[in-house]
Amino acid sequence: MTASEQPHVRIFDTTLRDGEQAPGISLDAKEKLEIAEQLARLNADYIEAGFPITSQGEFEAVRGIAETVGTQVWGSATAPPVITSLARCHPDDVKRAADAMRSAQRSRIHVFLSTSDIHRHVLHHGASEDEIVAQAQEGIRQALEFTDDVEFSPQDATRTDKDFLKRIVEAAVEAGATTVNIPDTVGYAIPYDFGATIGDLVRRVGPEVAISVHCHNDLGLAVANSIEAVRQGARQIEVAVNGIGERAGNCSLEEVVMALATRNDLLGLGTQIDTVEIGRTSRLVSTLTGYNVQYNKAVVGKNAFAHESGIHQHGVLQDRLTYEIMDAASVGMVGSQIVLGKHSGRHAFSRQLEDMGYELGAEEIKRAFDRFKELSDKKVEVTDADLEAIVADEISAAADEAFELEDLEVTGGTAARPHAVVRIRRSADAVVFEESAGGDGMVDAACGAIRRAVGEDATHGAALRDARLADFKVAAVTGGIDALGDVTVQVDVAGQRYTGRGVSTDVVEASARAFLSALNRSVRLQRVQATTETP
Ligand code: KIV
Ligand code: ZN
Repeated sequence: MTASEQPHVRIFDTTLRDGEQAPGISLDAKEKLEIAEQLARLNADYIEAGFPITSQGEFEAVRGIAETVGTQVWGSATAPPVITSLARCHPDDVKRAADAMRSAQRSRIHVFLSTSDIHRHVLHHGASEDEIVAQAQEGIRQALEFTDDVEFSPQDATRTDKDFLKRIVEAAVEAGATTVNIPDTVGYAIPYDFGATIGDLVRRVGPEVAISVHCHNDLGLAVANSIEAVRQGARQIEVAVNGIGERAGNCSLEEVVMALATRNDLLGLGTQIDTVEIGRTSRLVSTLTGYNVQYNKAVVGKNAFAHESGIHQHGVLQDRLTYEIMDAASVGMVGSQIVLGKHSGRHAFSRQLEDMGYELGAEEIKRAFDRFKELSDKKVEVTDADLEAIVADEISAAADEAFELEDLEVTGGTAARPHAVVRIRRSADAVVFEESAGGDGMVDAACGAIRRAVGEDATHGAALRDARLADFKVAAVTGGIDALGDVTVQVDVAGQRYTGRGVSTDVVEASARAFLSALNRSVRLQRVQATTETP
């Protein structure tokens, strides 16, 4: 069978909805849009953009994605991706989801309801099976008033009584659901057993309805369960880039797609994913979420294509296939190329960004170019990885940042106690707060001074003054003594955790930028507080 004749497995990406539910990730509308655009270049069939009822900010983010991503044909695709929104089986939720996606050319409403005994008891006030069936059918019918593409998920399906699962799936189809998704909400499934359940459901619903799977990774089996499910006839897999999500995360997009591609000889199933975009998608999601990718992560880890032992190196030099089952270039994981230098002008710079797939506004290009010029004074070779880091930093630094770092000076070190002086500009009225602080180390001193400076702001100062650095990670963007330091922090502000990122050739400056970006994020997101619990 040729590749084009093979059954197509749809890739439903939920990085922006379920992935974003991982602790400490709080993407704003601009960051979500950037990721959605990259998912479109990757050629994901479905992009679950969010859960619009949860907050005004979430609604706006989904609306922006529907308007921009859902109205264009991207990369090698022939139609815009289908934009999807989550909704509970409730008229207000469903309407909000539909309103947010109004401008998308193709949209899907994904309604869900819990079906296991424990979930029905705890989350649905002990609702009976009959009540759950009625509510699910009602939700599906409401969604069908807005779109003919409706997906239904019985939450906690793998801990649901098997007879009731069959009943609710059939009821969903009867009500008009076009896709029925089987979520392994708590990562409880084991491949052979899950596969048998999926095979049975596939036969029951018939060829007109797609069975989908949504596997969490609590036992490290999300990819294995998803592969077994498609072997048994499921035709959609729900995934998140880098496997991010609640607890141990979701089925990882890159792993499941590459398993299907690499073992096509056994599975005979195709996806439409443009695998060359995988590396960049993974890096973008990692930098914007602040979730680093572990070195030995399959497909996208730094070491996924590195060979350390002499025998391995010898073998790969003779023939790559000796120890490699995938080509690094086919997943966009080739080493950074030298792209620009000190003398490159703005034109070459924006051309390079365009070639790398970024579509930035004039203001963002200007800011990124200024950062590039600063960097090229300090670093001889500016690589594509450096550019990606600068651009991601500028995307995170939204134009409406409450505070900007104007100057930072840190003195002292091993002999003398470090001391930092900082100047922070409040964007709204250009007032500059200058403050200083000592600290146990240079980063501690810089963060202390920033805390005091923003603490002078009458509206947000009280919360920001008590901000606490909960996590701090530093990585080098490329090799070499002049490498960019890439700092990711998690900061607690008023009981909520926020991620911040900063890059600079100076690690203390990168840390200060990261700390301030987390504080700015807290100010931004406080304006759009969540009003509903996420599933
Ligand atoms: O894990 C889960 O059950 C979900 C559903 C909303 C599909 O994310
Ligand atoms: Zn989930």
